[in-house]
Amino acid sequence: MATTRRILDLLRNGQPGETVTIQGWVRTKRDQKEFSFVEVNDGSSLAGLQAVVSQDVPGYADALKRVNTGASVELSGTLVESPAKGQRIELKAESITVFGEADAETYPLQKKRHSFEFLRSIAHLRPRTNTLGSVFRVRNACATAVHNFFQERNFLWVHTPLITASDAEGAGELFTVTSMNLDTPPRTKSGEVDFAQDFFGKRAFLTVSGQLEAEIMAMAFTNVYTFGPTFRAENSNTSRHLAEFWMIEPEMAFCALDGNMELAESFLKYVFKYVLETCPEDMEFFNQRIDNTVLETADNIINNEFERITYTDAIALLEKADKTFEFPVSWGLDLQSEHERYLAEDLFKKPVIVTDYPKEIKAFYMRQNDDGKTVRAMDVLAPRIGEIIGGSQREERLDLLEQRMADFHIPAESMWWYLDLRRFGTVPHAGFGLGFERLVQFMTGMQNIRDVIPFPRTPQSAEF
Ligand code: 4AD
Ligand code: MG
Repeated sequence: MATTRRILDLLRNGQPGETVTIQGWVRTKRDQKEFSFVEVNDGSSLAGLQAVVSQDVPGYADALKRVNTGASVELSGTLVESPAKGQRIELKAESITVFGEADAETYPLQKKRHSFEFLRSIAHLRPRTNTLGSVFRVRNACATAVHNFFQERNFLWVHTPLITASDAEGAGELFTVTSMNLDTPPRTKSGEVDFAQDFFGKRAFLTVSGQLEAEIMAMAFTNVYTFGPTFRAENSNTSRHLAEFWMIEPEMAFCALDGNMELAESFLKYVFKYVLETCPEDMEFFNQRIDNTVLETADNIINNEFERITYTDAIALLEKADKTFEFPVSWGLDLQSEHERYLAEDLFKKPVIVTDYPKEIKAFYMRQNDDGKTVRAMDVLAPRIGEIIGGSQREERLDLLEQRMADFHIPAESMWWYLDLRRFGTVPHAGFGLGFERLVQFMTGMQNIRDVIPFPRTPQSAEF
């Protein structure tokens, strides 16, 4: 019995003369007079393995009738040097088994190129296409790189809850989690829904960020990171927003904003480098078929230092810009995606770290600067994407944090444990959040964030 091998392994290491078995899905079949070419892909690599199935193979005629694009098969045979251009080896089949057919009339993924929009409507089949295949391999490599990066630096991976009672970002974009009967929820005397009678005894939500819990863990383990799903009920139908997305949030005790910026920069460089090394074919594919600046961008990230400017300087640059923006620019207003892209894409042509934003437009937990107007925030802006990382040094001084919470009308009782961190052994600390799908978008050049997560959750869409 020949051992079953993955196609990536064969393409890289397979030697002529070896007998092997492969399993996978047929991408194409080309019938010649006395044999057929069957290209099989098992998801391990962009390229499939070409098998030559001749008339001598037992059951040849019947099997080949049943083998169409999309069918699942097992082929055994001998590896031989391939006479064809662009492939080192091919499989001379000695047996073929068909597991499942795919009807040529009704299987949606026929040879022609499909739009990404159409592919989203068949999210159960699109992983079998070249582009989505490359996307999910690169996504996997990015996730591996994330863990490698932090583990090499002795950061503890902490698991923060998905169900929470606090709105970490204070942006009010929360999904409620309830076990109440929505037709007849219990009500208070004044007629409001009585969440005290709900499952958790108070209103609970899906988390928008693991940061506050990561801060708790950093106060014991010094350096930690989260890597998990987060949820935001923002009704923005853009190419960069999801209702469910994955976030990586490192949190470091004994660390100020400079250390935070350094970590963010070396982190992005590390992930790009790792993906280029481990997924060269996929990255080449993106460069050829999706966006011809992908490799240049990766090179630029790895080899150039990120630009660092303050929000105040960024506003001055935007006001001077030789460009008309849809949204107004003035000190105090938040940067819109078009402004972020102008800075990173047009002006500096590389990632830009903008720091020290006005305190009114940033979250309550950010550390106040002495000017009384700004906080120690940092956003990393990337060409094509805009904001890819948001972070800050945290307010570690109890009185100033209490004052900020009051400004934002956040009741101190609801956050007693967060305030306790400032009562007991408080230290300067900082961290950031990287949107994982935005990273994959940036890496691959994919235009729409819905095409870098297997099952995108967006307004009006949760089919698969
Ligand atoms: O800037 P944000 O809101 O920061 C936080 O949540 C902090 N608690 C992070 C921290 O300091 N630990 O979100 C962080 C990143 C953004 O920069 C963006 O890349 C991504 O999360 N993000 C989204 N990605 C996809 N869809 C959405 N709706 C996103 N909202 C934010
Ligand atoms: Mg942000």
